[in-house]
Amino acid sequence: MSSLSTKHLLGIKDITADDINLILNTAENFKEVINRPIKKVPSLREITIANLFFENSTRTKLSFELAEKRLSADVINFSSSTSSVKKGETLIDTVNNILAMKVDMVVMRHPNPGAALFLSKHVNSKIINAGDGAHEHPTQALLDAFSIREKLGNLKKKKIAIVGDILHSRVALSNIFCLQKLGAEVMVCGPTTLMPKYISSLGVKVEHNLKKALEWCDVANMLRIQLERQDIKYFPSLREYTMLFGLNKELLDSLSKKIVVMHPGPINRGVEITSDVADSDQSIILEQVENGVAVRMAVLFLLAGRV
Ligand code: CP
Repeated sequence: MSSLSTKHLLGIKDITADDINLILNTAENFKEVINRPIKKVPSLREITIANLFFENSTRTKLSFELAEKRLSADVINFSSSTSSVKKGETLIDTVNNILAMKVDMVVMRHPNPGAALFLSKHVNSKIINAGDGAHEHPTQALLDAFSIREKLGNLKKKKIAIVGDILHSRVALSNIFCLQKLGAEVMVCGPTTLMPKYISSLGVKVEHNLKKALEWCDVANMLRIQLERQDIKYFPSLREYTMLFGLNKELLDSLSKKIVVMHPGPINRGVEITSDVADSDQSIILEQVENGVAVRMAVLFLLAGRV
C-alpha cells in the first residue's frame, strides 16, 4: 500500500491499520532524513500549509511547523489569541479568509470536539486534526506508537497502560484506537471519577491500582491531570492523586521488570510523574518529541499526495 485511504486526518478511529503502518514506515524514512547534516527535502515545495491554533500548544505547534519546513512547504501560522477571533469572527469565516490566500492544507487545534470534522465538511483543503477538545489527537497517538515500535520492535501483544485523567484526554482515546489497531493490549488506570462511563465498551482493561497496572504492562503512558478541562472536583486534592496515581522512582524500581515510561507532555512534574522518573533511562519522553517531527512529516507528505 502506498497511499492513505483518507483525504483528511481527523482521528485514528477513522483510519485503518494499513494507514497507520504506512505512516509509521514513512516516518522511519523521514527520521533518517532529519538526522542528516542537510535535513530538508523538496517534497512539499509547491504546497502551502496553515497552522491554526485556537488553543495553547508547544510541542504540536512547533513540531508541525518544523515538519512542514523540513518538507519545504510554505507555512503560515495563526493563533486565535492574537487574531480577529477576539473580535467575534467565526471559525468558518476565519478559515475561509485564510483559504482565500490559496492554502492547500490546514493543521488545526481547537478546544471543541468535532471541530476538525466540521471544518472538513465546509472547506476544500485537507484537514489535519492537531487535537480537538477531549476527542482525538491523532498525530500524538501515531508518534507514541512509532516510539513504542522503535523501542520494543513492534506493537503486537505488547501491554500498554495509559494512566491518569482518561476522561478528559484526547491522547488516551487516540492511543486506545491506534494501539488496538496495531495489535497491542491496552489497560487504562486512574480514579473511577476520571474514567469515562463507556470505557469498557472500547475493549480495554480497567484498573484502579497503579502498582498492579505497572506490574502488568510493558509501557506506561503517564497522562497529565487536565485541570483546565475539569469543571468540578474529581478527586480531593492533587497530593492525594499523586500518592495513589503518581509514578515515582521508588515505585518504578520496585517492579519485577523494567518498563518503558512515556508522557505526551506537558508534564506536571511531581504530580503524575516525578522528575527522577521523567529524566530516567526508562523514560522515552524526549524521543517521543523527536519522533513527532518525523511522524508529522509522514502525515503531511502522504496526505499531500492524496487527491
Ligand atoms: N502533547 C501535546 O499535544 O503537547 P502540546 O499541547 O504542547 O502541543
